[in-house]
Amino acid sequence: MDILRSIEASRAACAEFTARGTVGLVPTMGALHDGHLSLVKAARSQNDFVVATVFVNPLQFGQGEDLQNYPRAEAEDAQRLKEGGVDLTLFLNADEMYTSTNVTRITQGELGTALEGAARPGHFDGVLTVVCKLFHITTPARAYFGQKDFQQTVVVRRMVSDLNMPVEIVVCPTCRDPDGLALSSRNAYLSPVERTEGLALIASLLEVQRQFTGGKRTSAALEAAMREVLSQKLTKSPDYAAIIRPTNFSRPLNVEVGDVAVVAAPVGSTRLLDNHVLGDKLGPFSNSL
Ligand code: PAJ
Repeated sequence: MDILRSIEASRAACAEFTARGTVGLVPTMGALHDGHLSLVKAARSQNDFVVATVFVNPLQFGQGEDLQNYPRAEAEDAQRLKEGGVDLTLFLNADEMYTSTNVTRITQGELGTALEGAARPGHFDGVLTVVCKLFHITTPARAYFGQKDFQQTVVVRRMVSDLNMPVEIVVCPTCRDPDGLALSSRNAYLSPVERTEGLALIASLLEVQRQFTGGKRTSAALEAAMREVLSQKLTKSPDYAAIIRPTNFSRPLNVEVGDVAVVAAPVGSTRLLDNHVLGDKLGPFSNSL
């Protein structure tokens, strides 16, 4: 596996790949876990070349968020990506990605300010801007994203469609620990007690799926069921626990198969999020790659 750090060298290497076959891109912020590796595995199976990027993108962190403390593990990440069959990993740096003259941003109005965007103003502008830059640097045929960050998959797909970007977005299922906790680089911040508290999120999703399967369809009742589970298990109030229509994040009165239960909550000093597409199977959980 090759490792590159400059934009110019990365572009040249990816141009060589694209001349010879398809590139599958796996964009990450590092501190890699099996969820990230599942994206690598999917990319490996569908493309001639796999390119991974590791870049803690300052633009998607708000004031007072964990940019400085975000877990960094470059040597371990490189080892895991190599073992996963990645051809080229780009460790890009913020000074080159955002020079002092860089002012262009990608923004989506209401779509980027709902839910996560409301809790983290500017977050999705930062995500979309960096994903757009990474697409231009690596010219992938396909790019791989996790269902874990559901809203991210929707805004990225919309950007690709609105701006006619020649890349296919592939969304891979959420990888979970055997007890159901969604894998996240930020789980490293949790104490053992907080980790147990974090299981509130999956418990609320299991409960809403159970009631949906039982025939309940009004979103007020289903959201109340989620909040009930969360209030029993969480110390702090959730940021949101809602059922949304995936195309535009509107809140349906009557819930249908394919609507998405989304939840985000602070646990200790960490913010956890999770989601579930109603009607899909949820659990028992395994984390086999
Ligand atoms: P990061 O949080 O490192 O996640 C990189 C990719 O891994 C994202 O597509 C995310 O949804 C996916 N992922 C995270 N946890 C997962 C899990 N448990 N199961 C499956 N996939 C999972 O998301 C970002 O970075 C950034 O916003 C990025 C897209 C790289 C732009 O900076």
